[in-house]
Amino acid sequence: MTAPITILGIESSCDDTAAAVVHGRPSAASVLSNVVFTQTEAHAAFGGVVPEIAARAHAEKIDFAVEDALKSANVTLKDIDAIAVTAGPGLIGGVLSGVMCAKGLCAATGKPLIGVNHLAGHALTPQLTNGVTFPYLMLLVSGGHCQFLLVQGHNDYIRLGGTIDDAPGEAFDKTARILGLNQPGGPAVEKTAELGDPKAFSLPRPLINRPDCNMSFSGLKTAILRARDDVAAIHGGIPEQVRADLCASFQASVKDVLINKSQRALTEARAKAPELNTFAVAGGVAANMAIRGALETLCTNENVNFVAPPLSLCTDNGAMIAYAG
Ligand code: KG4
Ligand code: ZN
Repeated sequence: MTAPITILGIESSCDDTAAAVVHGRPSAASVLSNVVFTQTEAHAAFGGVVPEIAARAHAEKIDFAVEDALKSANVTLKDIDAIAVTAGPGLIGGVLSGVMCAKGLCAATGKPLIGVNHLAGHALTPQLTNGVTFPYLMLLVSGGHCQFLLVQGHNDYIRLGGTIDDAPGEAFDKTARILGLNQPGGPAVEKTAELGDPKAFSLPRPLINRPDCNMSFSGLKTAILRARDDVAAIHGGIPEQVRADLCASFQASVKDVLINKSQRALTEARAKAPELNTFAVAGGVAANMAIRGALETLCTNENVNFVAPPLSLCTDNGAMIAYAG
């Protein structure tokens, strides 16, 4: 058995400046600290992440994130065996902030530097949080990603399909903007949808009849824009109930597509790995109770375990990067 090690993980690929310390072995690791400085407020007025603002905010905060992570883990750089950092994919300005910080620390201390693929971080999180063993199926649904991965090993992934345009979180954020709701759009749309009728508007379920695991969400956003303009032309504005109906109808469409494609992905994954018995979900959209509930029901019907890591490790964070490292 390998000796336990301590890794500092740094993540700055989108709009969270994050650092964490993870200790242990691949089969049993624990999160000693997990610090996240979110930039939600800095981007809120723009209806999406502005790369320039993100890069500047990362550069300003990254040292503090690392300091806090070490302090709350009660360790110093001397106790760290290696430094793992997101090396992509992501917004280049943000990725550079993290990589430069990690390189600087490694140059100064002589510790090894490990570049980590951000998606591997998300994909391996169910192992860190729930000890899930390979192989398992992973649905990653966030503001920037949407894909099905058959995770067969620490460095062995098969991409079964994903969005061909926008990610669902991006569609939630744009829908919120179109309907005059706050950012980030996902929680705002979910809350407003509680009072709406999911059948009030007949919105498209893009690519749902295609016999593959690919998805598309950009047309849905256009459909919401048209529906809003039609309503506004009649009423001279958007009545509260109609706003709720639009949110509920939009959420139902995203849910239907994700469930339908998850079922297909399960079938494809089982054909490749018959011993597979877990379906894991990660990313900010996994916080949506309607979508999460429908995925749980699907898994019960399909007789596979459903795993959703705690939200703090589902969204972007340094612990997943440390663990993957
Ligand atoms: O994983 P995440 O924090 O960051 C990345 O995109 O990598 O995900 C953020 C996304 C945003 O688009 C946000 O609107 C969406 O997740 N989101 C939700 C909910 N909470 C967050 N979407 C739907 N329902 C929610 N409750
Ligand atoms: Zn992410």
